[in-house]
Amino acid sequence: MDIEAEIRALQLDSAEDDKGTTIPEDAKPEEVEMKEKVEEVEMTDKVEKEGRKDEVDGKSQPVQAEPKVKDKEVAALEDAEVPDEMESQNKRHLNVVFIGHVDAGKSTTGGQILFLSGQVDDRTIQKYEKEAKDKSRESWYMAYIMDTNEEERVKGKTVEVGRAHFETETTRFTILDAPGHKSYVPNMISGASQADVGVLVISARKGEFETGYERGGQTREHVQLAKTLGVTKLLVVVNKMDDHTVNWSKERYDEIESKMIPFLRSSGYNVKKDVLFLPISGLVGTNMKTRVDKSTCPWWSGPCLFEALDSIEVPLRDPKGPFRMPIIDKFKDMGTVVMGKVESGSICEGESLLVMPNKAQVKVLAVYCDENKVRRAGPGENLRVRLSGVEEEDILAGFVLTSIVKTIPAVTEFTAQLQILELLENAIFTAGYKAVLHIHSVVEECEIVKLLQQIDPKTKKPMKKKVLFVKNGAVIVCRMQVNNMICIEKFSDFPQLGRFTLRTEDFVLRGKQIVVNLIRSCWR
Ligand code: GTP
Ligand code: MG
Repeated sequence: MDIEAEIRALQLDSAEDDKGTTIPEDAKPEEVEMKEKVEEVEMTDKVEKEGRKDEVDGKSQPVQAEPKVKDKEVAALEDAEVPDEMESQNKRHLNVVFIGHVDAGKSTTGGQILFLSGQVDDRTIQKYEKEAKDKSRESWYMAYIMDTNEEERVKGKTVEVGRAHFETETTRFTILDAPGHKSYVPNMISGASQADVGVLVISARKGEFETGYERGGQTREHVQLAKTLGVTKLLVVVNKMDDHTVNWSKERYDEIESKMIPFLRSSGYNVKKDVLFLPISGLVGTNMKTRVDKSTCPWWSGPCLFEALDSIEVPLRDPKGPFRMPIIDKFKDMGTVVMGKVESGSICEGESLLVMPNKAQVKVLAVYCDENKVRRAGPGENLRVRLSGVEEEDILAGFVLTSIVKTIPAVTEFTAQLQILELLENAIFTAGYKAVLHIHSVVEECEIVKLLQQIDPKTKKPMKKKVLFVKNGAVIVCRMQVNNMICIEKFSDFPQLGRFTLRTEDFVLRGKQIVVNLIRSCWR
């Protein structure tokens, strides 16, 4: 394998942000189908298998592997008989993930959206108000719309990704409400990997913005993860503007915006093209469905949240590409049912496909999009696919349902370009480094086998000197290894299946992480 050739190719792919800084992102445009549907979002059962314990409020508790509404969804799936074609739905569909530091107001804002769009009636709100009061969590009643399980309501913290739908004039939205607590980052990853658009919720309340933005705060970690997971557009909502420490202060809003912009840029977002800031109060519902009144906020003349969501444009994906659907989960239901988001190509009932890396040839018995049975579905759709030819036990989250003719490579070793974004203070990055690799629905231990070359950030060319270790901010090409076969693609071929994140338990516990991007070549 010619590393030099790979590195040369790599130079051609580099993208630049609007300040001319190198960003570890797509030369190739992101491709997203406009009419999208989503299925259940949940953490992978890997987390459960790993037996990971999580800390909330200093207490240890297991992460739950069951999706919030799986039972309901499964029932819907069994009942579904309508052979709807996707084309019959003329509104475009977007998956929006709500991310940000714990208690920023993600669930409250999500709940308020549902209330304002008429999905929740006054009586239910009154019921939630009473329930929240009984739990001494008065102000959490709006969050109860999204936080549906008892544990979440008692603790006031989202654990599993909540899911809900609402519509505007032009678009059907699926909201994915991610947890902000650092113990639940794997759940957040699962939610973000199914979204194209992110709403980054930031609390403007005194002290809260600061904690979230600190190194180790989830504002930073979520932004970096979202970028590598394919969230191409971000709405940054500066929330809690009604709070008495904020009082719709322009100074506070400007301060937050001016601190966030350089950080977003360094995380790979093109701030001019892909990011929009706006102030809201999720709790009161201000500047959400209608623009904020001048008497409340004289200085804001930009859009409200609904307008901003409506205006987001995501480019179309190619439905004719080779079929790729990373599997997020599987279960038994009159055969084997796999769930996942189609990253490329289309799927048809009756078609033969492969499950990789175990090379099981399967037949597509049925395809479900939300509760609807469909004959075919295109890229961007979140699906449940019933298969014959493979046992449920033989499939793991992270496997990929793929076309037979143009199948996906399965590897244990590959060459990648990494940009090291956050290392512990004074730490160095070298061969032998172990971390957890997150790539599409794969979560796998990996090791850096060899550092091959360092890239000069100015010239973007490989540096001549031999590289044994690097520090924060470095861009390097290195060889990586995993114990089990994983299915990955070259970034230049399939950005969604070629970009990844590395984390280590230690770093996450201490609230630090490194994020790396771009698989440049695979060893086949
Ligand atoms: P996690 O799910 O744990 O990450 O938190 P979250 O981001 O979903 O926050 P949540 O919606 O649960 O709200 C946390 C607290 O902030 C609650 O007490 C809310 O009432 C409060 N809050 C949320 N939005 C606003 C707002 O716009 N104004 C004010 N004053 N308080 C808010
Ligand atoms: Mg929440």
